[in-house]
Amino acid sequence: MSESAVIGPFGASTIGSVKVPGSKSHTNRALLCAALAQGTSRLSGVLFADDTEAMLDAIRLLGAEVEENRRDLSLQITGSGGCPQLDESTIDCRSSGTTSRFLLPVLATGHGAATLDGSKQLRSRPFAEQVAALRSLGCDLQETRALGELPIEIQADGLAGGEIEVAADTSSQFVSGLLMAAPLCDEGLTVRLVGTPVSRPYIDMTVEVMRNFGVEVNKVDDSTYVVPPSEYKATELEVEPDATAASYFFGAAVITQGKVRVDGLHKRSIQGDIQFVSVLEELGAKVTWGDRFVEVEGDRIGGGSFDLRDFSDTAQTLAAVAAFADSDVEISGIGFIRAKETNRLAAMTAELSKCGVEITEKPDGLLVRPNKWLLRGAVINTYDDHRMAMSMSLLGLRVPRIEILDPDCVNKTFPEFFDRLEELRPRAQERSDVAAVVAIDGPAGSGKSTVARRLAAELDLPHFDTGAMYRAVAVAALRAGVDIEDADAITKLAERANVEIHERIVIDGVDATEEIRTPQANQMVSVVAANPQVRRVLVQRQREWATGLGGGVMEGRDIGTEVFPDALLKVFLTADLSIRAERRFNESSDQTFDHVFEDLKRRDQVDSTRQDSPLLVAPGAVIFDSSGLSVEDVVSHLATIFRGLVDD
Ligand code: DC
Repeated sequence: MSESAVIGPFGASTIGSVKVPGSKSHTNRALLCAALAQGTSRLSGVLFADDTEAMLDAIRLLGAEVEENRRDLSLQITGSGGCPQLDESTIDCRSSGTTSRFLLPVLATGHGAATLDGSKQLRSRPFAEQVAALRSLGCDLQETRALGELPIEIQADGLAGGEIEVAADTSSQFVSGLLMAAPLCDEGLTVRLVGTPVSRPYIDMTVEVMRNFGVEVNKVDDSTYVVPPSEYKATELEVEPDATAASYFFGAAVITQGKVRVDGLHKRSIQGDIQFVSVLEELGAKVTWGDRFVEVEGDRIGGGSFDLRDFSDTAQTLAAVAAFADSDVEISGIGFIRAKETNRLAAMTAELSKCGVEITEKPDGLLVRPNKWLLRGAVINTYDDHRMAMSMSLLGLRVPRIEILDPDCVNKTFPEFFDRLEELRPRAQERSDVAAVVAIDGPAGSGKSTVARRLAAELDLPHFDTGAMYRAVAVAALRAGVDIEDADAITKLAERANVEIHERIVIDGVDATEEIRTPQANQMVSVVAANPQVRRVLVQRQREWATGLGGGVMEGRDIGTEVFPDALLKVFLTADLSIRAERRFNESSDQTFDHVFEDLKRRDQVDSTRQDSPLLVAPGAVIFDSSGLSVEDVVSHLATIFRGLVDD
């Protein structure tokens, strides 16, 4: 068991396709129905993970014969047909909510005694609503530890059935379990839902799978299901790929602004979580619905308000994606996910906050107010919740130093998650249009120059300081006495001046290395840099410069967005405003710290909102907060990312 997993940023947009495992929810319903059926069922595309192993063990205990073919993900299950015979055994549901909530009512229809138990985590999840419903049918249940929680002892002697009410606003699993047990009741069962049901598509999935196994469920109205007594019949069933598992890869496409296709899914999926794709589309992603695939292409993403009551398992994925949005993202309708593997609202709020995301926990959801400039790496607690590990990993695709604790918790539903994610890592060899450039952009004081110079040395590549070019034009204007506001005259100077930028900066044969850094030059350069005509001339020259030398490490403000949007590796280097101010203050202390601080704040504002080539985080760029890190650390991280892109 590994203690932690560090997710290395991709450094560029990912393009690829992924196979995700079978749906946990679909698998566990099919396993139970097959075990209750007479005859041999054949299931394909099955998920083998902790939650489904729990169900497999349980149905074996109940007498089902299971033949496994793990290599081709298929199973043959010969069911015992009808109500189960119980032999006083304890059924360990591990941490599986579906296994426990599906089994409890089914056991109640049997004969004999059994105890239902699970992990410490499952013992803390609610069962009271289902226990109450079963007691109202005359079932003898005893909680041996705490009311409404596992372990629960069942003394079963069949169920006559009739009519019951069940609270459906905590978990739809209560309803699904009762529905699956319903045809085994002597008189059948009418199930009335109380409260606004959560995750309704999962109830629809239950009805659909029961139908596949020959059992009819009549939905009389939105809150009433009538199930006559009947028998499950063996069948063949293809389990769908897991739409929730797919959400992480669609999230990866959007976060890295790339393109990811997930095989085997389609619009008519019986999984409610497929609706997550439409949320991404509303945020600005491009979606292609194939007959047997879904493809999501990321673009810049806006904000919006989304009610995820029907597909709450994707709420954590959405919160992670929201960290990269351009405006606020509100997720509502999901107060009930506090009772999942962990309190998911509190957990997501705590962990995203550590990464610099402004996030607020609301009574029924989350509000994310994103600012990409502030994202930073952190050590992430996963609370024994597979979805915490998988969703928070997505931040690591663009933010260095995201370390996921207890990564093996993904085994609950997706043991190969980290391998599949790694397979999406972009490779330079597979990208025909790529420029051999490392683009480093960022605000003043972020450490760009030092990092770019050292990284170039480390990777043995040329280094280009594009800021020096703008400075050289300012100095040429100073020398020639040209009015800095005269845009045409400055543009002519930019076209004509012979600027050499190596160890020393030489303008028209005269060394200007020190001259370009004088306060006077500092003042003038922002006017020069705001001149669109000058920018056009210099950007063209920068492209020729880098292309002529076969690439290199290029630093500036618009390298990843404007000069080389197809750079091999794009980086947005940032640091806390106060740390940047301190760095600048230490370089030259002829101004007070407060003055330097305020000046930087103003420049951030001007740089990021100016009309022409504002300082923005380039699509897919690594967002690297260097606060508290040494230059060596930053350089070594970036060198590793670079090598990951170019190595075979
Ligand atoms: O990075 P620096 O301080 O040397 O940059 C000098 C000025 O040029 C600063 O105002 C930002 C501007 N600049 C720019 O607009 N685009 C670049 N690619 C590089 C610098």
